Amino acid sequence: MKITVVGAGNVGATVAQRLVDRELANEVVLTDVVEGMPQGKGLDMHESSPVLGSDVKVVGANAYDETANSDIIVITAGIARKPGMSRDDLMSTNAGIVKTVTEQVARRSPNSVIIVVSNPLDVMVYVALKVSAFDRTKVIGMAGVLDTARFRSFIASELNVSVEDVSAFVLGGHGDSMVPLVRYSSVAGIPLTEMMPQDKIDKLVKRTRDGGAEIVSLLKTGSAYYAPSAAVVQMVESIAKDKKRILPCSIYLQGEFGMKDVVIGVPVKLGRKGMEQVLEIKLSDSEKAELNKSADDVKANIAKLKLD
Ligand code: NAI
Ligand code: 2OP
Repeated sequence: MKITVVGAGNVGATVAQRLVDRELANEVVLTDVVEGMPQGKGLDMHESSPVLGSDVKVVGANAYDETANSDIIVITAGIARKPGMSRDDLMSTNAGIVKTVTEQVARRSPNSVIIVVSNPLDVMVYVALKVSAFDRTKVIGMAGVLDTARFRSFIASELNVSVEDVSAFVLGGHGDSMVPLVRYSSVAGIPLTEMMPQDKIDKLVKRTRDGGAEIVSLLKTGSAYYAPSAAVVQMVESIAKDKKRILPCSIYLQGEFGMKDVVIGVPVKLGRKGMEQVLEIKLSDSEKAELNKSADDVKANIAKLKLD
């Protein structure tokens, strides 16, 4: 298993470090445009491996030849949010970066699965899909696992229970109109609605929607990366080990949930081939309306893209 992480900033470097710590690859290639930085971080990670007992080879690079024949490519390259910025404010800069990066990695690793992280996430998945011309099963966005992890962590703290016993699903676009599905959320199998009054649930749903901004307002110089990198690694693990986990991921829809030509987060099965199945769970009328609204927001941004 060879994994390339493009962008050696906060998210990318932390993803690479987690991959090394958990020995999820034989080789991790970390690339960035900043000279020396991916090499320095890569060497530092390599020097941690005797302590960790990890035999992962780590390569830092500024060019793309080192990425050839990767099995999985994680794209984190781009700019991150600062206080007062929405994810959508990053669109034109990051679309150009994701386009360039995808062109470079896709031709050197034509059989890879691409996991996109750069924001605005769903639009960047669309860019990577169109530019790579890969099958839609091979271009997958990370956001739902993060948004769901935030929702689960807030529920667990509120109820003072283990995070392991909290299940939830957040679907839709990775933006203000994301759709935390309360009806599919439970604590040790007990519906969330039986564990908490509606006003408490509403507060946690709002905190989840604002989860990215809450971290940005605290950090001030950038956005979250510990939970995002953990979420990426859960997706990588499911693909690398062919675990076939059911995770909320952003993919290009071709009629599922009644939607076409848009990328949003839906439950999918992730295995060695990438996205192996979309699970079209039943939604209530109000959940469908929320998902449609979220998809419309993503579509409006896709319409603004200039890819030539
Ligand atoms: P960062 O600023 O720490 O790192 C980004 C890195 O990309 C920098 O090191 C920069 O030099 C590099 N870069 C820029 N252009 C490049 C190019 N053409 N080729 C290679 N590398 C290039 O930012 P951070 O915090 O790592 O976030 C990265 C992206 O991920 C941002 O767009 C952020 O909004 C997004 N993000 C998305 C999440 C999600 O849930 N989908 C969660 C967290 C972050
Ligand atoms: C987040 O939700 C920045 O999209 C990123 O933290």
